[in-house]
Parts: sequence; C-alpha cells; structure tokens
Amino acid sequence: MTTDPTTMGPVPELAERATACADRLRDADAVLLASHIDADGLTSAAVAATALERAGIPFETVFEKQLDEASIRAIAATDHDTVLFTDFGSGQLDVIADFEARGAFDPVIADHHQPADAETAYHLNPLLEGLDGASELSGAGAAYVLARALERDDVDNRDLAALAVVGAVGDMQGGVDGLTGANEGIVAEGIEADVLAEGTDLAMYGRQTRPLPKLLEYASDVRIPGITGDEAGAVSFLADLDADLRADGEWKRWVDLSDDDRRTVASALLKRAVASGVPAVRVNDLIGTTYTLTAEPEGTELRDVSEFSTLLNATARYERADVGLAVCLGDRGAALDRARTLLRNHRKNLSEGLELVKSTGVTVENHVQWFDAGTRIRETIVGIVAGMALGADGVRRDRPIVAFATVEPDGANDAGEVKVSARGSHALVRRGLDLSATMREAARAVGGDGGGHDVAAGATIPAGEREAFVAEVDRIVGEQLE
Ligand code: C5P
Ligand code: C5P
Ligand code: C5P
Ligand code: ZN
Repeated sequence: MTTDPTTMGPVPELAERATACADRLRDADAVLLASHIDADGLTSAAVAATALERAGIPFETVFEKQLDEASIRAIAATDHDTVLFTDFGSGQLDVIADFEARGAFDPVIADHHQPADAETAYHLNPLLEGLDGASELSGAGAAYVLARALERDDVDNRDLAALAVVGAVGDMQGGVDGLTGANEGIVAEGIEADVLAEGTDLAMYGRQTRPLPKLLEYASDVRIPGITGDEAGAVSFLADLDADLRADGEWKRWVDLSDDDRRTVASALLKRAVASGVPAVRVNDLIGTTYTLTAEPEGTELRDVSEFSTLLNATARYERADVGLAVCLGDRGAALDRARTLLRNHRKNLSEGLELVKSTGVTVENHVQWFDAGTRIRETIVGIVAGMALGADGVRRDRPIVAFATVEPDGANDAGEVKVSARGSHALVRRGLDLSATMREAARAVGGDGGGHDVAAGATIPAGEREAFVAEVDRIVGEQLE
C-alpha cells in the first residue's frame, strides 16, 4: 500500500493506524470517550473531544482513576457501542478484548502504555511501531495523531498541538533538551499553527508565576548551595545583582524581566553554581529548551507547559477532572478560578509529601528503595512525590524508588487495597530497568495488577501484601539490572 506523504500526519509510523481508527469513529452513532485522571489524560481527552466535535461525531466523556475490570465493566454497562480510550487501554487490552469478544462494545484505543498480550483492530500506540511510549509520544500525542486523521473539509486541528505538548511534558517526556522523537513532529505543527513557541531559557519551574526568590529557592533539579531551598540566600543573591528586579517594592517574576535583566540573572546564577562546585554537566542543565503557549496570557499558569500540566494534575487527581477538562477546552472563567484554588492545595500537598519522605526516610533493599506513606499522602499524587523525592536529600538516585499509599475505602473497594508507584531514572533504564514489567509481575504474584512505562509505573495490591511485594520487586529489578 502506498501512502501519500502529504496525508501522513505528524507521526508517519502511525498514519495507517490513525486513519483506521478515525474511519471507525466516523462510523459510530455516538462515542463514549474514556480517559485517565492526570495531565496527560485530561489533555488527551480535550484533544479527542475537540476533534470529535469538529468532525460532527456525538460523544460523552468519562474519566477513570485506573482502568481495571470493574471500571471497564461500568463502561460496558453504558449504552454506547463504541468506546474511545485515550491515555489508557493498551495496558488492559486483555480485559478490553474479552469484553469486545462478548459484544459489550467496540474499542478504539489511542494510548502509549505498554500493551498487554492481546489484539484489537483499532489500536493506535507508538510502541506497536517501535517508538518509545515513555519518551517519544504521550497519550495526548497519540490523541493528536488521531485528531489530525479525523480532519476533513476545512477543519485544521493543528491548534491542538498545544495541548498535546502539555500532555507530553506532564508525563515528564521532555528532558533539558526538550521533547524528542515523534513529539518533535507535534512541536513543529504547533509552531506552524502559531500556538506554540520553542525557546532556550532558564530551566526552572515557575517562570510565569513565581516571584524571583521563590523561583530560585524552589527549583531543585539542579541544586545550588546557598540558593536552592534557602529563601534568605536566594534573596541576597538577587539583591546583589545590577538589574531591575523589583516593581513597586515587589519582586518581579521571570516573565516580567527585560531580556538584558534575564541574561544578568542567568549568567550570575551559572557563575554562582560553578563557584559553589556544581559539576559542569549539571550547570549546563540550568538552561534548557522551553515551550510556551503563545495564545495564552503572559504571567499565567497556562502560558508555560509545565505550569499548565501541574494545574491540570491539581484538578484531575482530586476528583475534579471536569474542571481541568473545561480549562483545556477554553473556560477562562469559573473553571480557571476553581483550578487555581485546587492548585494551591495540590502544591501544599506536594511539598508536605516531599517533607514527609525526607524526614522519615526510605528503606533501602538490595536493588530498590521504598517508603510507605500510609494515608499521609493521597494515593493519586504519591507517584509525583516519589518522582520528586528521587533527586532529594537522603534519597539515592542509583536505585528505583517504590512508594506505597493506602487506598481510602469507597463502596467499590472495601477489601483494602494499597496503591504502589514506582519511579526510576533513564540511566537505570539504559541498564535494563523496566518498572512496567516489574509492577505487573510483582503485583500479579500477590493478587494485584500493575503496569505503566519502563521508567515510571504503578500497581494496586491487596492490603497486607506489601512485604511479599517488595521482595518480589527487589528480585525482579535485581535480575533486570544484572
Ligand atoms: O499514566 P501516565 O502514563 O500518564 O503517567 C506517567 C507518569 O510517569 C507521570 O506521573 C510522570 O510524572 C511519570 N514519569 C516520570 N519520569 C519519566 C516519565 C514519566 O516520572 N521519565
Ligand atoms: O505536578 P507535576 O507532576 O506536573 O509537577 C512536575 C514537576 O514540577 C515536579 O516534579 C516538580 O519538580 C515541579 N513542581 C514544583 N512545584 C510545584 C509543582 C510542581 O516545583 N508546586
Ligand atoms: O499512578 P502513577 O503515577 O504511579 O502511575 C505511573 C504509571 O503507571 C502510569 O502510567 C499509570 O498509568 C501506570 N499504572 C498502571 N497500573 C496501575 C497503576 C499505575 O498501569 N495499577
Ligand atoms: Zn500518559
């Protein structure tokens, strides 16, 4: 079969699968769109919803914390014959295929998680074409590829590249050098469509909204002694600079600075890092590739892709996916206000969670390290905290971290379950680490289930199985790193 290069879409490897999925959706009377409750899941849903709407295909949207037998059964119980799964589905393909075989619904899947061992006809996933689902394409990226294939007449869905980039960055796919692989094709289309700008800038979280001292104090990717985690140090560093860093007695934010003043601060920061003994490779990581949503107002969380993704996590991980979705779809009134309130709470929870891990410490096994937060960290954010802890004081970087949190019982779950989140590093993945396989295998060994990506994965296990699970994880990771 020959494919016309002009209709190949942003990720040529996925063109055929995208076309097949799009054709299947056009044949549906109505679609149930099901997505995951994090930044990538929300942006996936927003991209897919907008594309369906523009294609004139009726749909309804639902969000799930985790796709498992119970949530798939609930989806099957609705009166929709066609279900579009975004940002999940592949990992549960065996269960979904069972429902399909029994005639419960026809699935269309746009995902980037490691597929379970089963087949279905309409399945769009970078891993099926040799692309890396952990770093090259996110759920929102897969949804974007589908959205481009759903275009017809005079519809142009390239504006949705902005949300796809927010999803990719929300899943931590961007490194200091920015997004790579298939994601680059999406970035290029966002720039063409005038919704995205790529730049080189200070690689710190909060350039749009944090006052300068907070920007420097809280950034922890590269630790600078006397500035990182040191409010007085950050203030005195800034106060010594010959630059216009205040307005009306208040500290400016990074976005408020002139180009000259930005250069002054950045070069002083680099000098200071070198002088305090930060290794050259780490100093280089202070400057990196950044993505800006050019259609959003300056000085807001929406303008910077990292800040936007955190804003979305602050909604969906607290049972308010509806708020995050509304913001993605353009609500700049009540939904944005509500999201900002939720963000303050999320930030407080993240910083308290990180403090808890730092103060109580981790237990180090032969090949992994772990902590159990019990009910003190919400199970929906324990993975984010684990990822942040991996670079923090007292936590080793040379072995994966496994975090446990108690799942609060709700009607559907009285048996008592424990949520597991595991995070590794790219260096460990290069040595053979596959946390997705580890979580699935170790969880299944104790009566639970799991999956995800090589570098970041999760599981749910029955309460009381933690010890056995840790032993199993330690054994498997030991084999992988051998
Ligand atoms: O469900 P999902 O794929 O969206 O979750 C991905 C998770 O993996 C995110 O919480 C993200 O922060 C984490 N991740 C990570 N490091 C990576 C890639 C992903 O911590 N390199
Ligand atoms: O919440 P999310 O996973 O999007 O956060 C991504 C990263 O942004 C975190 O790992 C953390 O380094 C940074 N962050 C932060 N302060 C916050 C929220 C997130 O520094 N309040
Ligand atoms: O929840 P957490 O952020 O730790 O999830 C990390 C990754 O593991 C995500 O991609 C998530 O979809 C996946 N996961 C999974 N099965 C679970 C829990 C998490 O596939 N039971
Ligand atoms: Zn994802």
